[in-house]
Formats: sequence, structure tokens, C-alpha cells
Amino acid sequence: MTTDYKEKIGELVGIEVIEKNGIDVEKLRKLLLAGVGAEFFTYYYYTILRMHCTGRDGEGIKEIVEDARIEDRNHFEAMVPRLYEIGGDLPRDVRTFADLAGCPDAFLPDDWEDIETILKVLLEAERCAIRSWGEVCDYTANKDHRTYNIAQAIMQEEIEHEAWFVELLTKRPSGHFRRSFVGQSPHTMGHGGLQHL
Ligand SMILES: [Fe+2]
Ligand SMILES: [Fe+2]
Repeated sequence: MTTDYKEKIGELVGIEVIEKNGIDVEKLRKLLLAGVGAEFFTYYYYTILRMHCTGRDGEGIKEIVEDARIEDRNHFEAMVPRLYEIGGDLPRDVRTFADLAGCPDAFLPDDWEDIETILKVLLEAERCAIRSWGEVCDYTANKDHRTYNIAQAIMQEEIEHEAWFVELLTKRPSGHFRRSFVGQSPHTMGHGGLQHL
């Protein structure tokens, strides 16, 4: 991060207040970078997974995979501005970014024609996202209200995503019906760069 601005305007108060509350800003930058990396690459891998939701079983889950896919992209959009606000940035090279992502690659399984194998990959990706945003929530609660606010909104959607795939795999009764439109992001809507056309 360029520090030239400090000579002109002094330390950013937005950073000063969270440091005063005990936040290690460098640690938080790393956590956010890992989190947004996981979202970005999940969006990428979910694109491939969604393309393989075909046939009588696959078509039935395609729409729900699409909701999760677009909402993960929204999570990237929602948190990236916050990363820059606290002096972080995205790696110049996307290959570096891939290595810093906080969740494993959600690869298309070899036996993808069995739709359960795709659902299991989706479920594990959502579980990793819940853990990683949970860590951000735990670290920022009562210390960095703005990051916490965005992370907890994302986490609410990740918990919903987990529930969708659990219900599809287990037939557990469901409180979920459907989003009003694809990738609605009811919780993160209004954060960061989210745009709904
Ligand atoms: Fe996400
Ligand atoms: Fe998700």
C-alpha cells in the first residue's frame, strides 16, 4: 500500500479506530484476502459445476447452484472494497491470488454424472466459506464494526447455501423456498459494489 497519503492527511481514522480496538490490521488484510479469494474461485468452479448439472436429476438443481454461484460472486464484490479501505489490495497476478484463496478448489468430480458427487463438492465449499467468514466475524466482533457487518451478512448467505445442499442430499425438511431472482443476496445486498440490474 502506498503510504504517501499519510504525509498529506495523517493516519486514516478508519484504521486508527480499529487498531485502537485491538485489530492487527495486517492480519485482517490476510483474512479478507483469503476470504475474497475463496469467493472469487468458488464462483469460477461453480460455473463449471453448474454446467454439469444436466439430465433429469441435474436440471432440478441447476437453478439453486446458479443462486449460490452468483451470490458467491456478490460476496467477492461486497468485501473487496473493505479490503482496500484497510490498506490491502488484490494481487496483481491472478495466479498468486489463487494460491492465497482460503478454501480448496471446488473441482468437478470425475464421476460428475452421479449428481450426488457434485452436491458433495458444493456442500464442502459452503462449509469452508462458513468457517472462513466465521473467523472474520469472531475476529472483528465489537472491534471493527464495518468489516463485521459485511462478513456477518455474507455468513448468513453461506449458512443458507449449506442448508440448500444439505436438503438436496438428505431430504431434510426445509425452511427455504426460493430467491426472488437469481443471486438475490438478500443479506449482502447494499454492501460494497453489489449491483442488481
Ligand atoms: Fe460466498
Ligand atoms: Fe456460498
